[in-house]
Amino acid sequence: MNLFSLSGKTALITGGTRGIGQAMAIAMAEAGADIVLIQRDTSNQDTRLEIEKLGRKATIYTVDLASQTSVSSLVSTVLQDGHDINILLNCAGIQRRHPSHLFPLEDWDEVLQVNLTTVFTLCRDVGAHMLTRNPDRAGQRGSIINVASLVSFQGGLTVPAYAAAKGGVAQLTKALSNEWAAKGINVNAIAPGYVATDMNTALIQDKERAASILSRIPAGRWGCPDDFKGSVVYLASRASAYVSGEVLTVDGGWMGR
Ligand SMILES: NC(=O)c1ccc[n+]([C@@H]2O[C@H](COP(=O)([O-])OP(=O)(O)OC[C@H]3O[C@@H](n4cnc5c(N)ncnc54)[C@H](OP(=O)(O)O)[C@@H]3O)[C@@H](O)[C@H]2O)c1
Repeated sequence: MNLFSLSGKTALITGGTRGIGQAMAIAMAEAGADIVLIQRDTSNQDTRLEIEKLGRKATIYTVDLASQTSVSSLVSTVLQDGHDINILLNCAGIQRRHPSHLFPLEDWDEVLQVNLTTVFTLCRDVGAHMLTRNPDRAGQRGSIINVASLVSFQGGLTVPAYAAAKGGVAQLTKALSNEWAAKGINVNAIAPGYVATDMNTALIQDKERAASILSRIPAGRWGCPDDFKGSVVYLASRASAYVSGEVLTVDGGWMGR
């Protein structure tokens, strides 16, 4: 299991309070990493406590990922406080649903900020730090994992801002990989299928839509947050040392259909 060990590493994670990001944060801690959690406030201590129960360190920094000003100073603050960052996981995301001809610009701007511009800013700033780190014995300096979506490939319905942002996340992942893979920074994305989290409450409550989605998933079920534990540890660890620029679908077979 040494190949998958994250022992001695620190992961900076957005979106760790609940859903997919929480499971991913706990998975990385189970694999041995200490975790820096980026949250909008400190009211939710659940993930921090779970990580500490595993004997790992968890530190919360508060940032509103919808505010570019707030995001811009984050990485320098974390580094100045003495944390190294070996792994970056951009998992936070928001959804806004409206028919496209009625889509409000403020919702467009918010989705693009949280789901794409903030992802770029954190990749840029953490990537700049990783480039200054000494490579390990395998020549690795760090791993960056972004969370994409099936609408990185498909258009979705009534989610034009989300589809544009997630399409951007997939392309950003490849663009950064092209620059950084030779320098020991692997940049990959995980594209979840349909997962039963708060983000999908509207879809789950729409019985007809939920049934039609389910009927198209070869695995015969929606995903759950724990389905993402293996893929995130893989992409954060030495096991994926020669994998970069990949958008890994974890979708119960949806994209193969
Ligand atoms: N669920 C799915 O089917 C699905 C499918 C494809 C892709 N994804 C992607 O997977 C990722 C996780 O989704 P999920 O379903 O687990 O979502 P979720 O349960 O709704 O959780 C969203 C996370 O993002 C954080 N967040 C949102 N806006 C923020 C802000 N302005 N500042 C700080 N934190 C913020 C939330 O923090 P708070 O708790 O403070 O709100 C929460 O931790 C997202 O990138 C999503 O787009 C999900």
